[in-house]
Amino acid sequence: MRRYRYIDADAVVDLLKQLVFLEGKPSKARLIKRFLRRVSRNGVILVAEVNGRIVGAGGGYIIGSMENVEGERYGFIEFLVVDESYRGMGIGRSILLNLIDKLKARGVSEVYLEVNPRNEAALSLYRSLGFTVSYLTMNLKIDRASTDGKL
Ligand SMILES: CC(C)(COP(=O)(O)OP(=O)(O)OC[C@H]1O[C@@H](n2cnc3c(N)ncnc32)[C@H](O)[C@@H]1OP(=O)(O)O)[C@@H](O)C(=O)NCCC(=O)NCCS
Repeated sequence: MRRYRYIDADAVVDLLKQLVFLEGKPSKARLIKRFLRRVSRNGVILVAEVNGRIVGAGGGYIIGSMENVEGERYGFIEFLVVDESYRGMGIGRSILLNLIDKLKARGVSEVYLEVNPRNEAALSLYRSLGFTVSYLTMNLKIDRASTDGKL
């Protein structure tokens, strides 16, 4: 397990494509690289290697640039993915635990993440580490093509 470096970008993009594909969104390498730059600049990205090949990656950061009114800092796990052929070997758990440690070292008192409620593997992993459901995320698709005031 080690920190992500810029030269890892292509390998991590390939991994993230598996995740973006799961979410049913188009995956453009250029946009994923921009996203990786942003996460690594503001937080931490870890990669797991087997025989010199990157087979898993996870990234997280501290939400907001300052403490909230209660003086607490929250961490957010932005992504976690393990190559299909290497799943079920403990790599995902190991990346996540390391990410949480890194965020803890930066002073966070809680860690948040978002997960598709149908993603059994991820849910089971998160629950096994003690994550519980706290808030429900809702989203609204904005129809940007429409100009007549409709959503
Ligand atoms: C979720 C994911 C990262 C887990 O990585 P992994 O390396 O396969 O997971 P691990 O081997 O470390 O397993 C850790 C725990 O996850 C759960 N788990 C893993 N695979 C599972 C499966 N197929 N079904 C149910 N639970 C599963 C188990 O609780 C497991 O603990 P156990 O081995 O003690 O039973 C991986 O399946 C993945 O990359 N999925 C696609 C991307 C994704 O969904 N990312 C999360 C988005 S929020």
